[in-house]
Amino acid sequence: MKVVILAGGGGTRLFPLSRSWLPKQFLEFDGKRSLLGLTLERAMGIVRPSDLVVVTNPKHRDRVMLELESVGALGAHLVLEPVGRNTASAVALGASYLLNLGVPRGEVILVAPSDHIMGPAGEFVGAVDKACELALRGRWVVFGVRPAGPETGYGYIEVGGPVGPGFLVRSFREKPDVESARAYAEDPRYYWNSGMYCLTLGCLMDQLERHMEDLYRLVSRGYDEFISAFADSPSVSIDRGLAEKSSDGAMVPFNGDWSDIGSWDAIYKWLQKDGDGNVISGDCVALNCEGSLIMGQGRLIAALGLRDMLVVDGGDAILVAPRNESQRVGLLAEKLASLG
Ligand code: GDD
Ligand code: MG
Repeated sequence: MKVVILAGGGGTRLFPLSRSWLPKQFLEFDGKRSLLGLTLERAMGIVRPSDLVVVTNPKHRDRVMLELESVGALGAHLVLEPVGRNTASAVALGASYLLNLGVPRGEVILVAPSDHIMGPAGEFVGAVDKACELALRGRWVVFGVRPAGPETGYGYIEVGGPVGPGFLVRSFREKPDVESARAYAEDPRYYWNSGMYCLTLGCLMDQLERHMEDLYRLVSRGYDEFISAFADSPSVSIDRGLAEKSSDGAMVPFNGDWSDIGSWDAIYKWLQKDGDGNVISGDCVALNCEGSLIMGQGRLIAALGLRDMLVVDGGDAILVAPRNESQRVGLLAEKLASLG
């Protein structure tokens, strides 16, 4: 098995820490490892460094190298996209790189985003084993998570009857509107897409040929030609380009803990809290505060009487907002960017 890690995305909802020069995958929330570092560690639990391919963009090269070094994975392959063309093209580039190395079409790849948290490790390994079994039967496989609410930022998998150690995918809806998300979240047939895919290189190529002809035309020219024409590659996610269109999928449930850490509220919920329900890190003094996330960096934050608030010092900017406004932080970051 090979693991293709996608580490080229941006991210605005975690402003002021996540910026174009430091997207979410490079952030550390526990003071030890970044989300990419945790993803690499998980991958190292199932393959050797030489079986890892990290696809990212050139401006993140040095940071990715540091991450690889910190988990002892310097033997991993780094594929640099000339321009960002979303996840379908990034996955196709990683696959094309492997085929170019002589890896056979029957080899299974695990495609992993690098911007989420999941555990425990045993649960992850068990789910990957099941997915591998289904991938070897010719299916593309996603890992489903029980919805905890009507999140509109995820893909929703509708499952049908059982197939091997998983279920058939009946339909896939990427980022539905809130009405549909509400209906899906209450329906036991629907799961969230955790964003990981498991399939053989041959299955990926067949699916691209059937559902993303323009991308297939480029990838079938071989790695060197594909990467030099990468700017012409379509900018579509693998979820919309492939999963929504194909009826050859299967789903393996992931029953451990999973969070895509997509908002400050999700981070608050994930991290260890003190007796007053606060998450406090860095140089902070808090008095009579409850349910708040307060993250200092380089200067003292003195907080008094906060209830369910976010205070995040990003160095050049400080975010102050009620926790229940978390989902709208991206809009604030976009407004700031438009002001220049
Ligand atoms: N190399 C590369 N190039 N990586 C990319 C690119 C790109 O152009 N665009 C995104 N990525 C990486 C991101 O860094 C992240 O690790 C992963 O691909 C997924 O991209 P996101 O942009 O974060 O996708 P999303 O969160 O909106 O949606 C996906 O993840 C959800 C779960 O967190 C989808 O797969 C959803 O269906 C899923 O529910
Ligand atoms: Mg994401």
